Formats: sequence, C-alpha cells, structure tokens
Amino acid sequence: MKLFFTMLGVALLLATNLAQGQGGSDLLKQGQEVYENNCADCHRSNGEGLPVRFPALKGSAFVQGEAQPLINLILAGKKGMPAWAEHLKDQEMAAALTYIRNAWGNKAPAVTPEDVAAARKK
Ligand code: HEC
Repeated sequence: MKLFFTMLGVALLLATNLAQGQGGSDLLKQGQEVYENNCADCHRSNGEGLPVRFPALKGSAFVQGEAQPLINLILAGKKGMPAWAEHLKDQEMAAALTYIRNAWGNKAPAVTPEDVAAARKK
C-alpha cells in the first residue's frame, strides 16, 4: 500500500512538471511569434537592435529588471517606438515580454497577463 502511494506521488509529480514545462514553452513560443511580428523590425530577431537607432534588448538591464516599468514603456511607447496598448492583448504582451526576458541569454521572471492588466489600470 505504501509503495502504491509512493508511485502515485511520483506519477503526479511527473504529470505536474510536464504540464508546467509545456505551459512555459507554449508561452515562449507565442511570445516569439508576437515579437517577430511586431518588434523584430526594429530590435531584430537576435535582439541586438541597430546601433544608435534601436536599442539592444539582449543583455539590457531594463528588459531584465522590474516588470512594471517595462510594461509601462511597451504600453505607452517612447520616442521612435510606437505605443502597443491598443495593438496587443494582455496575453500577447505578457508572452512577448516573457520572451524578451528569456531569449538571447537574458534571464528574468515571466510577465503575466495579470501584470499587464494591472499596469493598464494605472
Ligand atoms: C519602429 C521601431 C520599433 C518597434 C517596432 C519596436 N520598438 Fe522598442 N524601441 C524602439 C526605439 C527607437 C527605442 C528607444 C526609445 C528611447 O529610449 O528613446 C525602443 C526601446 C525599447 C525598449 C527599452 C530598451 C532599453 O533597454 O531601454 C524595450 C524594452 C522595447 N523597445 C521593446 C519593444 C517591444 C517588446 C516591441 C514590440 C512589441 C518593440 N519594442 C517594438 C523602436 C521600436
């Protein structure tokens, strides 16, 4: 009986890990798509941008820093960069930001659709 429960526990653990892994890679895949369609024209697929004109996202401390200032910049845009508030849904923006925070050797926690929704309300 004890063995049964141990096995059941292991199976459940495996299942949750798989489910989470799956969810994570789906989000990154969607994020890459949103990025390629909307951001790569300027910041380029390799995240390196173009010297002087378009800042690199690869290795950027701002990109890998706090989520809220990053979301606010994407929502509102900045000189030379369009605002995205009207064009991207919460889910798409969360996916794209999670992607740029974890592509090209970047490493930072995921951005959730709830984070984006909260930033819109401010
Ligand atoms: C038309 C060109 C263009 C497009 C398209 C564009 N950007 Fe930008 N982006 C810029 C420019 C120019 C800046 C610099 C603005 C400034 O600092 O004055 C910038 C700045 C940024 C920064 C700040 C980088 C840093 O380290 O300070 C981030 C993050 C960013 N863009 C993300 C994105 C994302 C995500 C998308 C797609 C949803 C996107 N951009 C689409 C031109 C663009």
